[in-house]
Amino acid sequence: MVDSFMFTFLSLLIFFNQLVHSSSNLATDSKEELQFPEPIPGADFAKEISKGLHVIDFFSPYCPHCKHLEPVWKKTWEKFETEYGNLNLTFSRVDCVASGDLCNAESIEYYPTIRLYGPEGAIKNYPSDNKRTVESFIEFAKKEALNPNNYAEADLRSLSVKLSDNEIINLLAGKGDKPYLVSFWPTKTMDNTDAYGEFVDCAQCTPFKRVWKILSNSLLASEIKTGHVNCVDSPILCKELGFEKLVPLDNGSREREPRVILIIPNKQSNNLFVFPNNDFELDTKVYEDFALRLTHNNIAPDISKGDILKIMQRDIDFGNSNKVNINDQKIHLVFSYDPKTVVPEDFDVLEHLIEPLQALPNVHLYKVNESIVDVTKIGYNNMYSIIQNNDKEAQPLTLNENSLVLNSITQMPTFFIFREGDTTSQIFPGYSTTETRDPKLIMSWVKLFAKPLYSEMTPSNFRNFMKLDSDVFSTIVLLIANSSDPTFIKSSLTYLKNMKVAGYEYEHERLEEMYENIIRERTEKKEYIQHLRDTKSKPDKIVDATLLDVDHVNNLRLSLAYYDIGKYDETMSWMRTPILKEPLGTGKIIIIDRTDGRVFQFDSSGNLIDCESPSSLRDVLLSVSLPDKTSVVTPEYVSMVVKIDRTTKKTLFTPTHKIYLCVVVLCVLISTRLKKIYRKYKTRKSYMNKRDTVGLLGKEQFQD
Ligand SMILES: *[C@@H]1O[C@H](CO)[C@@H](O)[C@H](O)[C@H]1NC(C)=O
Ligand SMILES: *[C@@H]1O[C@H](CO)[C@@H](O)[C@H](O)[C@H]1NC(C)=O
Ligand SMILES: *[C@@H]1O[C@H](CO)[C@@H](O)[C@H](O)[C@H]1NC(C)=O
Ligand SMILES: *[C@@H]1O[C@H](CO)[C@@H](O)[C@H](O)[C@H]1NC(C)=O
Repeated sequence: MVDSFMFTFLSLLIFFNQLVHSSSNLATDSKEELQFPEPIPGADFAKEISKGLHVIDFFSPYCPHCKHLEPVWKKTWEKFETEYGNLNLTFSRVDCVASGDLCNAESIEYYPTIRLYGPEGAIKNYPSDNKRTVESFIEFAKKEALNPNNYAEADLRSLSVKLSDNEIINLLAGKGDKPYLVSFWPTKTMDNTDAYGEFVDCAQCTPFKRVWKILSNSLLASEIKTGHVNCVDSPILCKELGFEKLVPLDNGSREREPRVILIIPNKQSNNLFVFPNNDFELDTKVYEDFALRLTHNNIAPDISKGDILKIMQRDIDFGNSNKVNINDQKIHLVFSYDPKTVVPEDFDVLEHLIEPLQALPNVHLYKVNESIVDVTKIGYNNMYSIIQNNDKEAQPLTLNENSLVLNSITQMPTFFIFREGDTTSQIFPGYSTTETRDPKLIMSWVKLFAKPLYSEMTPSNFRNFMKLDSDVFSTIVLLIANSSDPTFIKSSLTYLKNMKVAGYEYEHERLEEMYENIIRERTEKKEYIQHLRDTKSKPDKIVDATLLDVDHVNNLRLSLAYYDIGKYDETMSWMRTPILKEPLGTGKIIIIDRTDGRVFQFDSSGNLIDCESPSSLRDVLLSVSLPDKTSVVTPEYVSMVVKIDRTTKKTLFTPTHKIYLCVVVLCVLISTRLKKIYRKYKTRKSYMNKRDTVGLLGKEQFQD
């Protein structure tokens, strides 16, 4: 199987290579004969797509956006035919007014919809954020034409096993030996997901069979099994899981989609995870991440100090080298405990983190059986070596040990966050057992800091960028990238590093500022108490004053980010108001001060800000966000963006517990031989009630 995957992939590469060498001949030979084909009629659709990959524009002749797209689509088709004609991919069109039934069947909801099709049907939509230009379409098509997952399906068989109610109940009772990813379908008798399934009101069902087939094969390497349930045949099970929409075969009203769960083995509770409802996607990657990361975080493997130091030292770039690709930066949440003092209850919190962690991309949970505060210290010392080694103009700086101590006040056990490519780290500020066992508190800290070293800004996440934790991360440093430019990719390592080094120099000043603030506040507090004593104030007033907190202000951090003008609009016109004076240029920097919305594109001498030299970028950053720390003049801002207030309501937990309760009830309903499990559950429930614990049973606070 794997061989044929590779073979297809290699032959594609060879095709591609030949093509690059012969494209000039090709272009001249065939140019005259090219005739932009008519839209595919509904009746020919199945036959047409069986011939290879297609990128299809589903349009209506009456929609203005479609008319706008038409000439671009024609040019894209021409260019692709002449230059990449061998790639077995065609740009096509479907007229949804002439072929209404087809567009209904393919669940086209808006015009134009641009979607990639394989011989067996829809594969994925063209990303809605991406530019609709000839270059972007061709970039997308080339990448998909060379993606082995889009082809190998012809040789692939689904390995998903049909599961009965009892088999599911056994898995939920902890009797499985491997994690199980299970899909639920609105059908009656689909033995194999490759076989015919009767679906009503489920436009996504048939395309999802393909996703499921690929998943059933790709997850095998990670020892995750796949199964499926026909909900029309297992109505009680599906209803109890909350999938009642999938139960009637012919509902005749509502559109529905298959549902997916993961069951973790060797556990009798907290072992069922439902794929988040609104995120149905025709994309194997999303489900792979769901299954793999849940399985990983459930185990929370041990990690060593050496591994952590290696993670901190990784290089990140835009290429496909041995560096970490910027799209795949991992975040490591590490639970650190002392085996001599740890008690089993300390570990309970890990279980409650698994599900909320799923909502944060690329966060992986680990544990380590010792304190790793010293690793944090090594990391900060390395920060200073990195500054000295990469910025020739930098002043010699040294670590202020006191400031590090202030930042690492914690008790054992506790949590650390390490990011790939970042030598600085975060320590959970837990001062008591109550805090280090409170999943809500831990998650709000994790949410704040578990971001990659370089976050991607896109048209659709810009609002979130402006919204999130603006007082902790006050400043966005945005590198303008172009992932379709080979020259940029080659120099991206340097660009990213310079941005990071400037960030570290800024971080040094920020830590100093924070330290000075604390010392000042402490002195003021002391003086105030002395003043109260000198003036013979009432004793209770003096006691009150000694209890005043000295805030460890932790704000004014930088958030390093990038915006890819190879993929997205280089004028940022998706923002309601134009914010830039000049279009974005590769390698340039935009600074957004989130606290008041100022946008900076030029430095104080009127030059576009860039990251050619870490120290000049540092100077601009300081002048914008810590003006007291530099003599450099703050430049003029080019515009203001609206600051978005933080959302008030935060939901950290999704109601898995409800489903778990349902399943327990179901066990009793269906099978009497499972009485034992129910008894176990009851014991556990009363135990949990006594402990008054957080999480699956919905209580708010730990009390032991
Ligand atoms: C193009 O793809 C289709 C479907 O996968 C296949 O049947 C056909 O042989 C391919 N053609 C070429 C030239 O590779
Ligand atoms: C179809 O399902 C929806 C949602 O579950 C429900 O509101 C509706 O009454 C059902 N219609 C029929 C005809 O059963
Ligand atoms: C800590 O874990 C490592 C393996 O990760 C093990 O070799 C070592 O013995 C453990 N130390 C203690 C004190 O348990
Ligand atoms: C990105 O790079 C490609 C390839 O060099 C180039 O054709 C394109 O114009 C660049 N995009 C922008 C917006 O500069």
